[in-house]
Amino acid sequence: MQTSRGKLIASFAAVTFVAAFAVLGVAFNSSDTSLPLAPSAQAPIAQVPVAPAPVTSDKPASAKTALPLGILPQLYALAVAPGHEPAAQLVALGKKLFNDKRLSADDTVACATCHDPTKGFTDHRGNSATSAGVQDQHGQRNAPTVLNAMFQASQFWDGRAPELEDQAKLPILNPVEMGQKTPDDVVAKVAKIPEYSDAFKSLLGRDPTYEDIASAIAAFERTQYSGNAPFDRFLAGDPQAVSESAKRGWALFQGKGRCSSCHAFNAVSPLFSDQKFHNIGIAAHKQNFAELARKALAILRTGDTKQIDELALQTSYSELGRFLVTKNPADIGAFKSETLRNIGVTAPYMHDGSLATLWDVMDHYNKGGVPNPYLDGGMQRLALSEAEIDDLVAFLFTLTDDRFADFNQAEMARQTALKTNRPQRETEIAEGRKGDLGDIGVSPDLRNPASIGAY
Ligand code: HEC
Ligand code: HEC
Repeated sequence: MQTSRGKLIASFAAVTFVAAFAVLGVAFNSSDTSLPLAPSAQAPIAQVPVAPAPVTSDKPASAKTALPLGILPQLYALAVAPGHEPAAQLVALGKKLFNDKRLSADDTVACATCHDPTKGFTDHRGNSATSAGVQDQHGQRNAPTVLNAMFQASQFWDGRAPELEDQAKLPILNPVEMGQKTPDDVVAKVAKIPEYSDAFKSLLGRDPTYEDIASAIAAFERTQYSGNAPFDRFLAGDPQAVSESAKRGWALFQGKGRCSSCHAFNAVSPLFSDQKFHNIGIAAHKQNFAELARKALAILRTGDTKQIDELALQTSYSELGRFLVTKNPADIGAFKSETLRNIGVTAPYMHDGSLATLWDVMDHYNKGGVPNPYLDGGMQRLALSEAEIDDLVAFLFTLTDDRFADFNQAEMARQTALKTNRPQRETEIAEGRKGDLGDIGVSPDLRNPASIGAY
């Protein structure tokens, strides 16, 4: 993988560098085209053609704009090595591809259909919890936002794609998403569209490969960083930026609510995510995990990413989560702690979109999740009062980028109106007056102890 991608980058980089330096008249050192190494195995690096290192021109070729409040240069540098910002031309091409329905088999679905840039890069379906692809087919999972995805240690709810470039190749070929049959079909279709074949030719000197198409889309995604939330202004020293209720919510988030144990936050890791996988009991709503895991192991032939992609999106094995990737029983029903940035504008919630509002999310946590043998040890009953739940929700609504401020406001009003309908609320369990308590493990069936945990 590294080899072919390395070549791709070398060819992209050579073209970009030569073109840019020809224009700018800057001395060109060929060793600059070598790839920077990732600072850590966790941090994705720029796997895309790069703009030249800072130059003194008025017209920088890089697509990087000023970083928003909340996103530090150190974080950006972990995702995009300094001097290797994606080139503006490539980003523009990627943006066009991202929004183009012609990338799908029947010209009906673009990346942006499920990741709508005007809706926080998610799809906000009114009538269903999971996303709809070609011929209105629904997969098993809810579309997460693309905002800040560039900073994640892995992509998808189960982390099955290491980087944005790997990720972008999958939905185009998934039968219930964009429905193309093979990479060759995609390449042939794109090459027939003159605006694309011209653009790729001027960038690469040739028609694009499937890798090139994915790299262009990923280059666009690497410009989708998002901060500038009221909470960022509050942390930067403006006490008026958030309400008193939201301030109490922030304290609860780190304290009684126990949220920060998984939705970890600090200045250089500001996504509110530990980037790890936990079973918080969402999938336990519908599944007998042990039985499902046994069957899945029989089906997983090679565990290649394409097979996992189809199991995850098209079958009930979806609910096994991270287990499909690792085959480790500890990962059964475990999903990624998603970023909480822009959470106000990315309803519905969770990997299956099963929770409609942030009040439903709070009710789920308050009762300690849904008991199952693989429930994360960090899930406990919280005994939060209704006022404390309101404070936590108020806090969550302060994490939205100002560019979606109006939408955030409208969402808060919409969700507030739904507050009277609380399907997840179990106050007696939350307060420890009734069991199944989330913090008490499930007893094995002692008539047949071997039935538990043996795969
Ligand atoms: C039919 C709807 C649909 C289409 C079309 C679609 N996606 Fe997605 N996207 C999803 C869903 C659902 C997930 C979560 C799937 C999972 O985790 O198993 C997802 C996950 C992602 C993620 C991972 C984000 C994270 O937090 O882990 C990225 C990035 C992404 N999509 C980008 C794209 C790109 C780029 C395209 C176009 C090439 C695209 N998507 C097309 C529905 C869609
Ligand atoms: C044990 C780890 C853990 C703890 C503790 C935890 N979370 Fe989560 N959170 C997760 C995981 C994992 C997911 C995704 C689960 C899934 O989809 O199955 C998630 C999902 C969410 C989502 C939905 C994200 C989306 O994009 O749909 C919200 C909102 C959320 N958590 C808020 C909170 C709040 C508020 C608290 C504290 C009351 C909290 N979490 C405590 C791990 C945790």
